[in-house]
Amino acid sequence: MAKLCIALDTNLPQALELIKALRGYPLIFKVGYKLFISHHRAITDRVKENNFELFLDLKLHDIPNTVKEGVLSAKDLGADYLTIHISSGEEALRQAVAVKGRVKLLGVSLLTSLSEEDLKSMGVCLSKEQYVLSLAKRAVELGVDGVVCSGQEVKRLKEGIEKSFMAVVPGIRLEGDPIEDQKRVVDIEGALQSGADILVMGRSILRAQNPVKRMEEILLKLA
Ligand code: C5P
Repeated sequence: MAKLCIALDTNLPQALELIKALRGYPLIFKVGYKLFISHHRAITDRVKENNFELFLDLKLHDIPNTVKEGVLSAKDLGADYLTIHISSGEEALRQAVAVKGRVKLLGVSLLTSLSEEDLKSMGVCLSKEQYVLSLAKRAVELGVDGVVCSGQEVKRLKEGIEKSFMAVVPGIRLEGDPIEDQKRVVDIEGALQSGADILVMGRSILRAQNPVKRMEEILLKLA
């Protein structure tokens, strides 16, 4: 069964209120730069104490030893999921995998904000699709547990990568929701049909009049 991850893209009081309101539901909370840099354990500890899974979206990208130390620190914080740029390189991925323990490493391939033109300017001659598949495949072969990708990429990646991995899909919108800055959105049914394992949702839930009711409706669709 696919899991629901709520992106805590809010300020600290709103995040704490949401965690309290959603106690008891099977959820993952994603903590990114905004909350983590300012509040660190004041947010991660609350997620864990309330028995939710913790997704640290820090997109590690550095030399192998620094990446390894970052993974160890995330492990100490009790992170269940941690993002890492696949383009950190094979040795960084190897060292991250070697120390991750029960932390699930999620590889970020190409940021969805980058275009084929950006790739060309970085000297990459592959198409966006080929580039994402080649990065994701190598990361999974090296032991990364999952890949962050758009709902439109999941099917191609699952067909193109033999070893099983978790497809983690942001950019999900319910009917009638504004798309805002996302480019390649899918709805929940589309994400599930394509084989998404974790659905990452922010504004569709955070901005609903009743976020708890909205989240309950989504969980029913995942059941
Ligand atoms: O509000 P919305 O549902 O668009 O939020 C999606 C979340 O997923 C945000 O926290 C965003 O940073 C994250 N994300 C994304 N696209 C990626 C990787 C992460 O939207 N490729």
